[in-house]
Amino acid sequence: MTTLKIFLVLFVIALCGCDERASGPAGISMVQSRQLVPANTDLANVYNRSCRSCHTVMTTGAPLTGDALAWAPIMDKGMTVLVDNVVNGYGGMPPLGLCMDCDVDQFEALIHFMAAPG
Ligand code: HEC
Repeated sequence: MTTLKIFLVLFVIALCGCDERASGPAGISMVQSRQLVPANTDLANVYNRSCRSCHTVMTTGAPLTGDALAWAPIMDKGMTVLVDNVVNGYGGMPPLGLCMDCDVDQFEALIHFMAAPG
């Protein structure tokens, strides 16, 4: 019986670990995060081919797009620091956030969008 309980607990934990509905600090799920796309078409194109591949997938360690609670302390660092961190790479994020042709204005717009979409 005890073994069964342990198995069930582990099973549930395992399910949660790869569940698409897993959510970040603000409770936004990966599915909800993936549905958020910048209204501006050019920015949306850039976002779709770079930032989005990590910033809507929790296991990458990136703060999810639209997760206000995750982004609040990050935004407190100030835009200059954040753009620098994207350009140089930061933690698990490769340099330029994999957008090789983005300029500073686009990085700023992308960061604002991910922190507070819409
Ligand atoms: C290959 C995955 C990946 C891609 C692509 C990516 N990021 Fe990130 N990003 C991360 C990870 C992981 C972190 C968290 C790093 C940490 O806190 O250690 C992060 C953190 C950030 C931060 C917070 C940095 C800080 O100082 O706390 C900003 C801003 C950011 N990303 C912007 C972007 C933008 C803009 C794009 C698209 C141009 C982008 N990212 C693309 C993985 C990625």
